Amino acid sequence: MGYRIAVVGATGNVGREMLNILAEREFPVDEIAALASRRSLGTEVSFGERTLKTLDLDTFDFTGWDIALFAIGSDATKIYAPKAAKAGCVVIDNSSLYRYDADVPLVVPEVNPEAVEGYAKKNIIANPNCSTAQMVVALKPLHDRARIKRVVVSTYQSVSGSGKDGIDELWDQTKAVYNPTDDYQAKVYPKQIAFNVIPHIDVFLEDGQTKEEWKMVAETKKIVDPKIKVTATCVRVPVFVGHAEAINIEFEDHLDEAEARDILREAPGIMVIDKREDGGYVTPIECVGDFATFISRIRQDPTIDNGINLWCVSDNLRKGAALNAVQIAETLGARVLKKG
Ligand SMILES: NC(=O)c1ccc[n+]([C@@H]2O[C@H](COP(=O)([O-])OP(=O)(O)OC[C@H]3O[C@@H](n4cnc5c(N)ncnc54)[C@H](OP(=O)(O)O)[C@@H]3O)[C@@H](O)[C@H]2O)c1
Repeated sequence: MGYRIAVVGATGNVGREMLNILAEREFPVDEIAALASRRSLGTEVSFGERTLKTLDLDTFDFTGWDIALFAIGSDATKIYAPKAAKAGCVVIDNSSLYRYDADVPLVVPEVNPEAVEGYAKKNIIANPNCSTAQMVVALKPLHDRARIKRVVVSTYQSVSGSGKDGIDELWDQTKAVYNPTDDYQAKVYPKQIAFNVIPHIDVFLEDGQTKEEWKMVAETKKIVDPKIKVTATCVRVPVFVGHAEAINIEFEDHLDEAEARDILREAPGIMVIDKREDGGYVTPIECVGDFATFISRIRQDPTIDNGINLWCVSDNLRKGAALNAVQIAETLGARVLKKG
């Protein structure tokens, strides 16, 4: 016997990837429902070889459904996730709404799989921010060996992190640069994103950080270790899919680059591509459609006693969202629900 799974936000970038990944990983599905807003009613989406017609989330009854993978914004999640959870369906949510709630586990299965067992307080499990997910996969095995004191991270985040509208804005703006007669108005980003980079993701907080930067700090503490200090600069770049991060890590104990490379090679979810030659590293475009988080440019930081620098790249729609959510469902199935 398998599971009855609902994918909520099935017409979006993350929802479509969820359907792809459930099929690719042969998740034991008995029945599947693709849900979106009423405006998309009947829109066709792919699930492996099958085509599903989307249903209206607003009138959907979650009673008898095992797991709902949510990929809609926080405002809509606030309305529908409690309804699903109350009906007995476990919600795995991609929005930021529940990530910092002490009664909701925030899970990256390579890092804290045991945390799924805390799902029952609200019947909800949260998925982290895309930038955090790939970073903590790399940090955890290094932390286990040499205890991380501090992380300094700069991100290079693709426009698909802003949903369908972000992708459309980069595409339309790029065309408008070549054809200035196009009457194009930016809607998503506060400055031009085509042929540019923008050091601003999500809203500004009082201390000058952005909310995206704060999320990386708070989520790393919740998932890996509250003692780790993190400081982040999050930057939007004109790339469609794939987030990159330059990460500087300071440890309590000495860790040389060769051992760090060996540890990362053995770690779950990681692929090390690190040849010190032209092209011997991974770029965002090469990680699209992949499950792994890729690590390159591993090297000692000679300016501090115990420091390592590395480059971390992953498909933000996969490890940063849909893949991680499906992995949480797999972990929940294996540890708690035990069907399939
Ligand atoms: N993209 C990423 O890298 C990433 C990473 C981590 C987390 N997330 C989070 O995942 C969520 C979805 O992101 P996305 O990139 O897939 O966005 P998207 O491409 O813009 O898709 C949004 C989806 O939400 C649905 N939706 C919006 N309002 C709704 C409502 N009131 N009722 C029912 N459905 C509604 C849309 O349905 P319609 O087509 O019917 O409008 C669509 O299916 C967001 O919370 C985002 O923060 C995204």
